[in-house]
Amino acid sequence: MELQGKHIVLGVTGGVAAYKAAALLRLLTGAGAGVQVVMTEAATRFVTPVTFQALSGRPVFVDQWDPRMANNMAHIDLSREADAILVAPASANFLARVAQGLADDLLTTLVLARECPLLVAPAMNRQMWENPATRRNMALLQEDGVSCLGPASGVQACGEQGEGRMLEPEAILESLAAFFTPKCLAGRRVLMTAGPTFEAIDPVRGITNLSSGRMGYAIARAAARAGARVTLVSGPVSLALPLGVERIPVRSALEMHGEVLARAGEADVFIGVAAVADYRVEQVAAQKLKKEAGGPPEIRLVPNPDILAEVAALPRPPFCVGFAAESENLEEYAQRKRQRKGIPLLVGNLIQDGFGGEDNRVILFDDRGSHPLPAASKDLLARQLIAHVAQLLEKD
Ligand code: PMT
Repeated sequence: MELQGKHIVLGVTGGVAAYKAAALLRLLTGAGAGVQVVMTEAATRFVTPVTFQALSGRPVFVDQWDPRMANNMAHIDLSREADAILVAPASANFLARVAQGLADDLLTTLVLARECPLLVAPAMNRQMWENPATRRNMALLQEDGVSCLGPASGVQACGEQGEGRMLEPEAILESLAAFFTPKCLAGRRVLMTAGPTFEAIDPVRGITNLSSGRMGYAIARAAARAGARVTLVSGPVSLALPLGVERIPVRSALEMHGEVLARAGEADVFIGVAAVADYRVEQVAAQKLKKEAGGPPEIRLVPNPDILAEVAALPRPPFCVGFAAESENLEEYAQRKRQRKGIPLLVGNLIQDGFGGEDNRVILFDDRGSHPLPAASKDLLARQLIAHVAQLLEKD
């Protein structure tokens, strides 16, 4: 789990978005974090502490003079255990108070007395967010090292449209996980492929495969979290784009080939996760093939270019990572594929483990031999692969 062992103080301030803090709390605990909720008085007008108490399994603190703390030092004790304080939603009033160093309730006192990082997810009406006073306060906070998550723009609770909405809980979780990830690929440009390709037969039919894109998208997310600039050339999948990743959507292997080759010269790392069709239809029918045409149609196939092999053969190639999905003899076939394509690292998986699903089992093959990783979620394997790539890059 991505936040396993982390202790987070979740600050909730007064705003309509306080109801989304309950969903955020669930995501944080689901990701393995221990969460202590601290609310401002105003926040309790929107959601009761009981909700957060039930979801976190811990008492919720609001009052600086709470008698439950034997030493009356809630502001010190609650923050000392924390790896980070995350305030979501953070109101304009809260940002102003923290920017000025005020400590006039438990949450602001806790923030002033902290030794850990502070992240805020602002949420307010668009004019409050655009007000020069709020901008000044936010700039001051950022100068002081506070991380600002969002805000997003869209329709607001007041019915107006603009910037000031709190980021969705999933995006806040993603930003927090990225915050804790070591930046082992900082400054590196990673170009990737993911998903299947679709080779048209006629306007409605085609040849494709069962790749869901999950493995590739997990790697893109892990690389972005590790500080890389990630461009993902993606076949047709229905997955949400990981935060901070640029997606170039393509359909066929030829389109994927064109988009990758146009960018490969600038990449430091190329990772080919896509299940690319080895062949395409020579003559795509302009009209739908008709049954009445007499007998089954004859479809002639011609080979597609090998994208990975072409990138690896460039005069100054990026560090290339290939994938191999095999139904048997994984070690033998994968090693052979790595040599044939001339790449330093290849990730082998069995098709029954890799295609579809949330989990996978992979073996990494490089110059030093083979390194099997225990079966795990694609997210965890992606993080391990990125750490391995970063190590190899350092030695390169
Ligand atoms: O998307 P998921 O459902 O999560 O599944 C993940 C996966 C099983 C698709 C993935 O883990 C995987 O194994 N991807 C490679 C699939 C494959 O069979 O590749 P291949 O053996 O055909 O090709 C080997 C390598 O060459 C791959 O890096 C591939 O991207 C690349 N290739 C292949 C053919 C081609 N024309 N151009 C290429 O670049």
